[in-house]
Amino acid sequence: MPSPLVILDDLPSAVDFYRLYWNRRPFLVRRAIGEDAMAALIGADVLAGLAMEEAPQSRMVMTAGDHHDWSCRFGPFTEDDFAAAGDADWSLLVQNVEQFHPETATLLRYFNFAPRWLMDDIMVSFSAKGGSVGPHVDSYHVFLVQGQGTRRWKVARTPLLEEVYIQGLELKILETNFDGDDIDVTSGDVLYVPPKFAHQGTTIDDALTFSVGFLGPKLSELYGSYGQYLSEFEGLDQRYVGDGLGPDSAGFVIGADAAQKIQGSLTRQLGAKDFTRWLVEFFTESAIEDFGEHSERGQTLDVAAFGAELKKGTGLTKPEYIKFAITQSADGEFFLGFNRRSYSLSESATAVLHRLMVDDSVTLGRAPELLNDPATIELLCELYNHQGLEFYRPGDG
Ligand code: SIN
Ligand code: CO
Repeated sequence: MPSPLVILDDLPSAVDFYRLYWNRRPFLVRRAIGEDAMAALIGADVLAGLAMEEAPQSRMVMTAGDHHDWSCRFGPFTEDDFAAAGDADWSLLVQNVEQFHPETATLLRYFNFAPRWLMDDIMVSFSAKGGSVGPHVDSYHVFLVQGQGTRRWKVARTPLLEEVYIQGLELKILETNFDGDDIDVTSGDVLYVPPKFAHQGTTIDDALTFSVGFLGPKLSELYGSYGQYLSEFEGLDQRYVGDGLGPDSAGFVIGADAAQKIQGSLTRQLGAKDFTRWLVEFFTESAIEDFGEHSERGQTLDVAAFGAELKKGTGLTKPEYIKFAITQSADGEFFLGFNRRSYSLSESATAVLHRLMVDDSVTLGRAPELLNDPATIELLCELYNHQGLEFYRPGDG
């Protein structure tokens, strides 16, 4: 019999997280996020405002009859929709809030022990007393960070083997109840739920919940995307021309040799350096469609002006909502992915990028070696011009 929900004193170290919890078991940390940090996140009114706009995806889930009737509507919503919802038994859920409300993205810095390159979005829910989205499982790992209010969560101790949903709903709500632990959470508490572990939150008093989700791609998405990447480069997108075909491949028969050759060319291509480049690009694709196209800032700087700014003492910082991915190819070269672009990194650029990835900042004062490293300055300038980095004046906080 699996043991009850683990309650930790602090968010785990990366070592403990992957060893004990990732994909294995849920845990709760009380007051993991301090009051000041929580106060910087989006509030209920601004969230409702976002749900009235076209771009953010939003939903309202209504429940009645002690969670026996469910209904769901999709945004954008109007003031009247909120007024009609009343003061109980509904939730508003808005996705990708980190892209629309940069202060909410600051929550991500608490999750550096998790694979930030798999971070999907921060979904924020506001729910009135009694509000719930029903018992369900998610495909993603989720850190449920409680904002204002109190919620009661029920969390399964083992993953669900068979998902049976109530028919005819636009929501995936489990048809039958599940066994689990009940726990009440308040502001700053963090509950980790791995994929496929059933869970249900019910609001005790008007609550905001921040769901920080980490979602891996499907195999079909990976193959599809890599294929698309190859198709963009004539030299990479080599046609199979039937080299070495023999009589066993005559007529309608694909001979063993032919099958092996085709499989071999696929495997070889997966081992190529292009794969590494594609990988970092793939994991930094923005969920918001237009984000990439509008990423060049209005006023770009040339390298000389950018370098002069750094020499004045201006620092660089990476906004939390910006996703970077760094990896190394089989022959040791480092690549950076940002906003579906990839960059080859020198050793010194890798070190600077690592510093920026943990949301530290970089100044020439603390990294004087940059003065003699024009290639890295050029890369940082390119990232700045595409809004992957921002200036900050030390002392600005
Ligand atoms: C909610 O905030 O009610 C839903 C979050 C979740 O279950 O993933
Ligand atoms: Co969920």
